[in-house]
Amino acid sequence: MILVTGGAGFIGSNFVLDWFLHHDEPVVNLDKLTYAGNPENLAALQQSGAPHQLVQGDIGDTGLVERLLREHRPRAVLNFAAESHVDRSIHGPADFVETNLGGTFRLLEAVRAYWSELSRGEADAFRFLHVSTDEVYGTLGPDDPAFTEQTPYSPNSPYSASKAGSDHLVRAWFHTFRLPVLTTNCSNNYGPFQFPEKLIPLMILNAVDRQPLPVYGDGQNIRDWLHVSDHCSAIRRVLEAGRPGETYNVGGDSERSNLQVVNGICHLLDHLLPHPPAGGYKSLIQFVQDRPGHDRRYAIDARKIRQELGWVPSNTFETGLENTLKWYLAHSEWVGRVRSGAYRHWMETHYGSARSAP
Ligand code: NAD
Ligand code: TYD
Repeated sequence: MILVTGGAGFIGSNFVLDWFLHHDEPVVNLDKLTYAGNPENLAALQQSGAPHQLVQGDIGDTGLVERLLREHRPRAVLNFAAESHVDRSIHGPADFVETNLGGTFRLLEAVRAYWSELSRGEADAFRFLHVSTDEVYGTLGPDDPAFTEQTPYSPNSPYSASKAGSDHLVRAWFHTFRLPVLTTNCSNNYGPFQFPEKLIPLMILNAVDRQPLPVYGDGQNIRDWLHVSDHCSAIRRVLEAGRPGETYNVGGDSERSNLQVVNGICHLLDHLLPHPPAGGYKSLIQFVQDRPGHDRRYAIDARKIRQELGWVPSNTFETGLENTLKWYLAHSEWVGRVRSGAYRHWMETHYGSARSAP
């Protein structure tokens, strides 16, 4: 079996759902269920009877992690758990340092103790896969080449600094202790189940409600977008065939300015929804004060994972964005529960007071 952390969040839940489309290998899912964790994302697994167990807890809780490792004896640990929103890291960096850095450290130590007791064959086959971000590389000028795995780390926000620190720990646990680690550094994701504090779902839902669309600064900051299902297939491929100690950049060659993204959403809504506002949904765009330290451009050079592991994304940004928009339109109940906060009571409603869901 595999142990996934943070698997009730956006990417983690997509990964677990995607896993069971390709495997019947059991998953234990350790998630603290912060505001970003939503067990409802995994509801389909309950219906299908997939061998999935959600355990509410912290990656920094060494006793709990040790117990899960001892009881379930995973062949791999995949670490998605993190505080992930840059704006929140500006308002309150402490949780970012605590989970992304301290939590990853404690998880690595618990995993190292477990791994060191495995038989030779099991230890060689074991993998610790750390899910990270392109934001650790800092910001690019308009004509700079895209980030490669050799680009020096230069994080600029409390979020990216805490992720960069976690990547360094993971690297050191390989070099010093020979723990067989893999790290992926992926560009901005979008797709189903993304919490509506991030750009794409926020803009879709505000537009549908005819609320202002707040674009930071001049809207010319560039992100390199990848559909979450392509990120999940990259992680599966790296787990399967990645070389221990290596890092892999993941991206889909889809650089877009924020204004292009928001205009694209507005254009789709003009055609998908009846009675668009006068002047179209674009008329809702408002330029607002910029984010402090706002990175100007990210771009991923994904040649290593493409050439070494044969991974290719299957969505274009245009089809991925349209499908994502349609997903949000079709899942108004999920959206309603996220917005009202009712999703935070999912565990109690569905599993009583038990902290662990089958
Ligand atoms: P998310 O915020 O949607 O989900 C994070 C999950 O981790 C939540 O379910 C939360 O409850 C859980 N969590 C938080 N602290 C925890 C702790 N101490 N112990 C256990 N669980 C905890 O984030 P996401 O967008 O799904 O990102 C997942 C990972 O992918 C993160 O490591 C992030 O840095 C990385 N990443 C994200 C993107 C992106 O565009 N969203 C891009 C590249 C990499
Ligand atoms: P975000 O989704 O927060 O991801 P990240 O900061 O990790 O790249 O933001 C994506 C881009 O969109 C980023 O340049 C900031 C910008 N943005 C806005 O212009 N308005 C918003 O309301 C938000 C949330 C983001």
